[in-house]
Amino acid sequence: MPDQERQLTVPEFVARKAAGRKIAVLTAYDYPMAALLDAAGVDVILVGDTLSMIIQGHSSTLPVTLDEMIYHAEMVGRAVRRALLVVDMPFPTNHLGPYEAVAAAGRILKETRCQAVKIEGGQDQADVIRTLVTAGIPVMAHVGLRPQSVHQLGGYKMQRDRELLLADAQAAEGAGAFGIVLECIPAELAKEITATVAVPTIGIGAGPHCDGQVLVSYDMLGLTRGSVPKFVKQYANLGAEIDRAVRSYCQDVRAVGE
Ligand code: KIV
Repeated sequence: MPDQERQLTVPEFVARKAAGRKIAVLTAYDYPMAALLDAAGVDVILVGDTLSMIIQGHSSTLPVTLDEMIYHAEMVGRAVRRALLVVDMPFPTNHLGPYEAVAAAGRILKETRCQAVKIEGGQDQADVIRTLVTAGIPVMAHVGLRPQSVHQLGGYKMQRDRELLLADAQAAEGAGAFGIVLECIPAELAKEITATVAVPTIGIGAGPHCDGQVLVSYDMLGLTRGSVPKFVKQYANLGAEIDRAVRSYCQDVRAVGE
């Protein structure tokens, strides 16, 4: 059961690591799903740019725009009562220089009820992270598999470059990031990074040793159209349940007057 009736703050999120309290993160893109996740006790709700694939039906996270992210984050923000609310900076809003990044992240904070933004990148984004944090905008970094760089990485693959990933995580922390998503990296490397940085690590396809875990809610609930990453545990099959309910409704409608 949720143990608080107000939103988790960024400092409280950070303090979870020292307290040894694991952090549960899920994505949401609209009001009803956000209300359900929030009421069920998830610690952090991420309006991820997976919106592009999960909701908009694109084949990557690249197409979603800043206006679209804000539109969905507004809906999610109206529902959230207790989770920390984080919104992804969509491609390429954090690559146009620190000041453009402040303008984009500033819009996200002003126009939605979110408390922080997430940025894909480590060493390459240190200047941007530092500038945002100086402007009072908390930043969660995202290293390892960075889906916005899918073309450069050559696909959605496990990332194994230990030196690079350690340096990315340390650079993000050094620049002021309050948390770091580790996507698709070996479990032992995620464990090493988690022990190296003082801020919480949130894993996805990165093994059990992170300070928390994140999943795309539609993936773990069985609502995603198409394939789901192998590491995703299926907690429900709501797609099949909806199919059953809609078939039953159609039968009822068509049976009247038969
Ligand atoms: O966009 C997203 O949903 C994400 C999570 C998968 C971490 O970045």
